[in-house]
Amino acid sequence: MKDIYILGIESSCDDTSASVIKNGILLSNIISNQEVHQKYGGVVPELASRVHQQNIIPVVHEALNKAGISKDQLSAIAFTRGPGLLGSLLVGTSFAKGLSLSLQIPMIDVNHLQAHVLAHFIKQDKKEDHFPQFPFLCLLVSGGNSQIILVKAPDSMEIIGQTIDDAAGEAFDKCAKVMGLPYPGGPLIDKLAKEGNPNAFKLSKPQVEGYNYSFSGLKTSFLYLLRDKIKENPDFIEENKNDLCASLQATVVNILMDKLYKAAKDLHIKQIAVAGGVSANSALRSAFQGYGEKYGLDVFIPPFAFTTDNAAMVAMAGYFKYLTNDFCPIDAVPYARVSM
Ligand code: KG4
Repeated sequence: MKDIYILGIESSCDDTSASVIKNGILLSNIISNQEVHQKYGGVVPELASRVHQQNIIPVVHEALNKAGISKDQLSAIAFTRGPGLLGSLLVGTSFAKGLSLSLQIPMIDVNHLQAHVLAHFIKQDKKEDHFPQFPFLCLLVSGGNSQIILVKAPDSMEIIGQTIDDAAGEAFDKCAKVMGLPYPGGPLIDKLAKEGNPNAFKLSKPQVEGYNYSFSGLKTSFLYLLRDKIKENPDFIEENKNDLCASLQATVVNILMDKLYKAAKDLHIKQIAVAGGVSANSALRSAFQGYGEKYGLDVFIPPFAFTTDNAAMVAMAGYFKYLTNDFCPIDAVPYARVSM
């Protein structure tokens, strides 16, 4: 059988990434981060699309070089069509169109959220054999999403619970900001929490129906705690930073795991996976291991390289679609908002 080479392109937010997979096995995954946003405390859409424009060609070149193939060997080009920042998505989409036309190969549109879930199927070497079986539950937690997804097949996913306000990553980033930490605060909270006591401060936990989440109350409770304590001691944050981070992190992880476990129990599902930027969080990763051991669940935690936005997951999602000849027309337009 002819080898299938998929080029994946990801440009939905502030990472420009390109990846090549061969028959489902990863050959390269190049990610170029955009540091330009750091001083603004969040991603500036206009700047993001400009930097994607600068990065896209060198990143694709490097992905092909690292994979050791020429562009003429590609079978198809998979690109993130949405959701994401429209200007950023346009760069990846337009590039995919140009390359697809010039090479006369099909284009495959990929849903960014589905790609995060399908990252669990990327093979880094031929011997790898621990993959989720359908159906399984995936907790997708990032700067923009907190969802519990029932994954029935690569092309059949159902959101059974999601945040009704802020996402988990957003809660980390906003709480970090009020402590004076730089953006994005999530990784720093994780680092500082390692030296702190997770039971030092009690923060409010939401009461939300079903498998839904809410993080805005927690954010407010954190803000009020700081406001009250600073009145008594202006150096409160500095003196308690590690404990604050550890308590906040433990509360977020607890909220996430409670609902995920409830869903797994109710639906009699024995396999749980985690995906998205927040899945890099060390406390969340160990909570997954802990729940797995305690409740006899098979857990799937992505390698760090596949937690944040990356094109390997886009190429993987594209590979699944390639196998069913699910291509998209050349006039496909990106979409900023879309569900599964
Ligand atoms: O999936 P992602 O790269 O893209 C967006 O959704 O934008 O997720 C980024 C989010 C940010 O909120 C960031 O603070 C969070 O993931 N994050 C973390 C960690 N690493 C990244 N949050 C907590 N602990 C981490 N180690």
